[in-house]
Amino acid sequence: MMYLDKKKLKIGRNDPCLCGSGRKYKKCCLLKGKQPESQSVEAQYFSKYKIRLKKAEDIEAIRKAGRLVLETLDLAESAIRPGIATGELDTLIHKFTLARGATPAPLNYRGFPKSCCISVNEVICHGIPGERILKDGDIVNVDVTSVLDGYFADANKTFFVGTPSADARKIVSVARESLRVGMNAVRPGNTIGDIGWAIQKYAESERCSIVREFVGHGVGFAFHEAPQVPHYGSRGDGVALTPGMVFTIEPMINLGKKDLKVLKDKWTAVTRDSSLSAQFEQTVLVTETGFESMTPYD
Ligand code: MF3
Ligand code: CO
Ligand code: CO
Repeated sequence: MMYLDKKKLKIGRNDPCLCGSGRKYKKCCLLKGKQPESQSVEAQYFSKYKIRLKKAEDIEAIRKAGRLVLETLDLAESAIRPGIATGELDTLIHKFTLARGATPAPLNYRGFPKSCCISVNEVICHGIPGERILKDGDIVNVDVTSVLDGYFADANKTFFVGTPSADARKIVSVARESLRVGMNAVRPGNTIGDIGWAIQKYAESERCSIVREFVGHGVGFAFHEAPQVPHYGSRGDGVALTPGMVFTIEPMINLGKKDLKVLKDKWTAVTRDSSLSAQFEQTVLVTETGFESMTPYD
């Protein structure tokens, strides 16, 4: 047996913090007035939130999948023109993905019948590629999720078809900027709620509305993991961001009201008031100092 050493029960101010942050106790949980827990951060995030933090090798693999997703979006962009059917774009994306040794995550996902989502004008998200013909003045979102070497990356962009109207330019610009302000809120010390708060403050200041029913999500090992990432919210709410978290931010922004309905195909979500809706999505990693996009564009 060993005599109890009371000093050993106490963490020194300069000792590594028991929460596993790698910082000194005085600069970490002591500073935050918290009781450090001796479990690793990885174990705590999984047991408390079901969030699976990513390691260096996971991150490199997600980055690779992300590069493929961006190339696929470039391919879609180069094919978009008035007169093309959304189903033709899907075929291009499907073939390109397979040719690169990857698989399209949407295909057969919960019964989804195609390899990507294509959402035109009043379609908010989950548009099923098919017979719809793109026409001059449309806005079209292409959402691509590829699985490469077992890792998932997810990104989307909204494109103009031909010459955009003033309304089209407005909603696409606000949606693009909404993603940007959301990503800029990603850093350790901030929370999931800070991301939604930043987006909501910006988008509503532009008199646009934010869809509530669909949220960003953890991604990497699977298509949709914890946590959920709402695009509205309050500062300081939700899970604290910590290095190794990988999730999407994908605000859906409407020119009119926020309300949606889902069509009889059970997938296509449209604005109730038929107003234009636009979206941009990237997969981001929380780093020690902020974030890194796994699907970097803009
Ligand atoms: N890619 C979409 C997202 O950003 C999800 C599409 S699910 C599908 O989360 F089944 F419609 F493909
Ligand atoms: Co997504
Ligand atoms: Co997506």
